Amino acid sequence: MRLLICLLFLGFAARAQDINAHGAGVLFHNGVYYLYGEIKKGKTWLVPGQTWEDYRVPAGGVSCYSSRDLVHWKNEGIALVPTVGDPSSDLDTGRVIERPKVIYNARTRKFVLWMHIDRNDYSYARVGVAVSDRPQGPYRYLGSMRPNGQESRDMTVYQDADGRAYLIYASENNKTMQVCLLSDDYLRPTAVYRRILVGQRREAPAVFKAQGRYYLITSLCSGWDPNAATYAVADSMLGQWRQEGNPCVGAGAESTFGAQSTYVLPLSRGRFLFMADRWNKTDLERSGYLWLPLTVDDGRVEVRHEGERYVIGGLALISYEMRVRGAVTGYSFLRCYTATDSLLLEYRAPVNEAQSGNYTETPPGTAYVRIGVSEGLSADSLHVELNAGEDHASHAPLCDLRQYMRPFWKGDTVYNETVLLDDSGGRLLYQPDRILAVRNYGLDTVFRLGVDYRLEGRRIVRLPGSRMRFRAGATFDKKDLAWYNLQSQWVVVSYTHHDRWRGPVPVYSGARLPRVEGLLRKSGARGHVASTKVRIVAYGMSITRGMDVSGYDGVAPYMPTYVSLFGKAVQARYPRAAVELYNAGLPGSTAAWGAQYAESYVVPLQPDLVLLDFGMNDFWRMRPAEFGDSVKAMIRKIRAGDPKAEFILLSNMKFDPAYVADSDRNKAFYVGNLAGYRDVLRSLEGNGVVGLDMTDISDVLYREKKAKDCVVNPLHPNDYLARWYAQGLTRLIVKDED
Ligand code: GAL
Repeated sequence: MRLLICLLFLGFAARAQDINAHGAGVLFHNGVYYLYGEIKKGKTWLVPGQTWEDYRVPAGGVSCYSSRDLVHWKNEGIALVPTVGDPSSDLDTGRVIERPKVIYNARTRKFVLWMHIDRNDYSYARVGVAVSDRPQGPYRYLGSMRPNGQESRDMTVYQDADGRAYLIYASENNKTMQVCLLSDDYLRPTAVYRRILVGQRREAPAVFKAQGRYYLITSLCSGWDPNAATYAVADSMLGQWRQEGNPCVGAGAESTFGAQSTYVLPLSRGRFLFMADRWNKTDLERSGYLWLPLTVDDGRVEVRHEGERYVIGGLALISYEMRVRGAVTGYSFLRCYTATDSLLLEYRAPVNEAQSGNYTETPPGTAYVRIGVSEGLSADSLHVELNAGEDHASHAPLCDLRQYMRPFWKGDTVYNETVLLDDSGGRLLYQPDRILAVRNYGLDTVFRLGVDYRLEGRRIVRLPGSRMRFRAGATFDKKDLAWYNLQSQWVVVSYTHHDRWRGPVPVYSGARLPRVEGLLRKSGARGHVASTKVRIVAYGMSITRGMDVSGYDGVAPYMPTYVSLFGKAVQARYPRAAVELYNAGLPGSTAAWGAQYAESYVVPLQPDLVLLDFGMNDFWRMRPAEFGDSVKAMIRKIRAGDPKAEFILLSNMKFDPAYVADSDRNKAFYVGNLAGYRDVLRSLEGNGVVGLDMTDISDVLYREKKAKDCVVNPLHPNDYLARWYAQGLTRLIVKDED
């Protein structure tokens, strides 16, 4: 049944943009479902002088759609046409025409349409009635009234099996509801009515009958904002109504999944469809719909949600947090689906102290995700961040990427080397012959020799009164594992030199990457016209993703991630190759995660070349042998998808040695693990697998300069160190980049 209703809803949702039927109701007549709703069209505006958020949109009358299966809908046109330019008319577009509901009177053979009629400030509080000989209208408006002199705002009608019909409406300044019996022809309220849910401030009523009892779902009065629904039960429409609690179950239940009830449609065999509106208060025309299965089991009404649905593409970071109520054990889930609704991957996160959440990545091919909780649980609050932590604004880099890709270990010019000045200054990698420029990190300020700084061998010394940023050593917390953030605090120096790099030098390894080499060579071959696809997938953790280079953090000079710099450099060298680059780096991920999910994240992309970059989240726990097993598992799984896939294994840069205090008993373990990972990766090199040793490169840099010149925080490279990654990778597959 759930599947069926999902299908119904998907069918409806797919056409939702074509359907304009809010606050809707349904009439089932002669095998056809007729859907009636408010037509919301035009610009939303806020009524001045109100104490509440009285957002309005022109009242467009009542729409009608018909369907035999609840999936395919035909637009039957406007069932009740509004009037234009006559403010005295109930149906004027400047008025309120809401929550239309139609019932059929078998005796008079008339279709009767009831609706909420109001003025913009909701002071009119009346119910209107219209009539037609045909279900789809046009309806003839008969007028509006206050039943028995009582206010009537949010309302619905209910037709019982015995032919009696009732009007149910929020009255008494929305504090109390009333149920009023309609006349036999359904055109007038009778004097028979009852006050129900007294003083409870309920509205948005939806009535249905199940197993001989009457149920009434309502919302609290909070304008267009969603709140928790409740259901009440009674033995007869004019009987005693008893509130039973929230029928909604699952993440988002506390806000009726972001929606407000409007109707409950009985289907065959005791099944029901719960229909609700997802108001978009500042753009009411774009309000959505939510249809969910409703069940009644032993008197208990439940509206379940398969999880909140979010549209998000593949390789995107997503995070959510929720507060959970209910069973002692259970989990929250994140399910990733394709555009054709097949489940790609499910993540489960345990519930701990009534909290659950996750931060993860969607696999390629994801079109949307659902977030929810396991059976027996409900979520009290759900906070979701799509594309978590990524800067949405795209900024063109302010730095010269060609200069940035000149290898640091070659030539005689260094561009924009970062130095964190402390109280006394900071050290360059090489002895400068000539300083070309010293700038701030954002590159918009040039510092002057003799004014801002002077040179002492390899040291830049900050002069008193200098505009250059510095970071006094004493401002660093000396605690074990004390975090810091140096983003943008460096100065950058361009200079010439003639001394040489004494650390490891990445060497061209094309011969061991025959596939990539072949593709690139082919694209570069004379006379080759069609572009040759070269697909590169980076699979790793935060550093891979780009944390925290300037482009990733959205600060000047907006340098792209190392993966992207690498892709651009390969593309620039082989303009006729079509380099396709995918970054599947998940911040926080471990090699074990990489091994577990390689089939989901890498294989579907059918890469020619895979960069494997793990370690920064592993050295805390994992010994080199196990780390090696994870990397081997990744290679095996990816090769099972394509035996010719090739790999570059990046060994992890070192963390800032000061991050772990010397007194920390585990320091040797951590440091030893990182060195061990480097060795184990080296042992995996061979045909189709080459390595880039960032462990040793970073180690030499930290000794020649200092770690804080090269990292943003203890674990992530800055633009300078990230460029060593990009330059090193490029050198492995591009022979003559100069
Ligand atoms: C809601 C009501 C809607 C509409 C809205 C106006 O509470 O359920 O139908 O009237 O207020 O703010």
